[in-house]
Amino acid sequence: MPASVIVDALWGDSGKGKTCAYLARKHDAQLAVRAGIGTNAGASVTLESGELIKARQLPTGWLNPGTKVAVGSGVLVDPRVFADELERYGLGDRAMIDPRCAVISEQHIADEQADQHLRKQVGSTCTGNGYARADFALRRAQQARDIPELAPYLGDVAAEANRVAADPDGLVLIESSQGTMLSLALSEDYPYTTSGNCTTASALNDVGLNWRHLDEVIMIVKALPTRVGEGPLPYEISTAEAERRGIAEYGVVTGRPRRKAEAIDADTLRYAAMLNGPTRIALTFCDHLDPAIRGQRGSAAIGPEVRRVIGEVEQATGAPVTLLDTGPRLDDVIDLEG
Ligand code: IMP
Repeated sequence: MPASVIVDALWGDSGKGKTCAYLARKHDAQLAVRAGIGTNAGASVTLESGELIKARQLPTGWLNPGTKVAVGSGVLVDPRVFADELERYGLGDRAMIDPRCAVISEQHIADEQADQHLRKQVGSTCTGNGYARADFALRRAQQARDIPELAPYLGDVAAEANRVAADPDGLVLIESSQGTMLSLALSEDYPYTTSGNCTTASALNDVGLNWRHLDEVIMIVKALPTRVGEGPLPYEISTAEAERRGIAEYGVVTGRPRRKAEAIDADTLRYAAMLNGPTRIALTFCDHLDPAIRGQRGSAAIGPEVRRVIGEVEQATGAPVTLLDTGPRLDDVIDLEG
């Protein structure tokens, strides 16, 4: 298994981080690389001990002690968020940033927070990512190599990812961010998108990984989809209804309530599969579909409702569902591959 991409089918917040950590441990991956936009992403994983891990910059593959972590050159770096994660989780000796990453400055964050179009119309996370990306396109952003504090962590991430993936015993996990339907140039919902694409192909591009190394695309499908910010959400229910059902969610980065749907739109999912080419599906938040599955780890716990949704997802994507996420903890998983 030389390289696997973990990509979200819909609007993100679906457990990519947990899936990356789970697969890093299962396969003892050598390297996990963050792709995607930047620190507007927020992954959260609850450890067996109950400790909550939150990550915005580094991939959560570090939860496997033998896995090195890196940030691809297409991903925006906020040096303050990077330093915070390094220190909080003690990752100084196994984290790498590509010197070509564009840097989010404090000015980018201030500008984005003052931008009423982004704040009100788009519902941006206002973390400076869009402004930094715009400056990068205009060739006036700083890169990671211009920031002295980042010097100890710089390395050619594209070369490292291709080197590990070329080793038959190596495994590179690429953790994408956001979701396919938030893609700037592939979503129907512009301007209600993020500032770049969030598909398999864009993840390879963010890292600089040669496509010949790719052998798995694990597409994450959230059993009851959510969306943060503006834009259409098929089958949306009210926050009050989500709270009544005990399935209300709040954003990792912004703390905002996530808008919640009570079903997956099959046409949207089919389109996401067409764009991403999944070889496997991880169906996440299954406990929101059927509370009885919460925390279960054996396939005997899969009830009729989850089984029905697995069938619909396999039909729409043409790929097998091989992982079921059954709760917030890292080991709350039914692994159908064994
Ligand atoms: P921005 O990329 O922070 O400007 O946000 C643009 C849109 O993408 C807004 O609707 C955000 O809520 C959404 N968005 C950005 N990052 C994430 C994420 O990690 N998860 C879910 N939605 C996101």
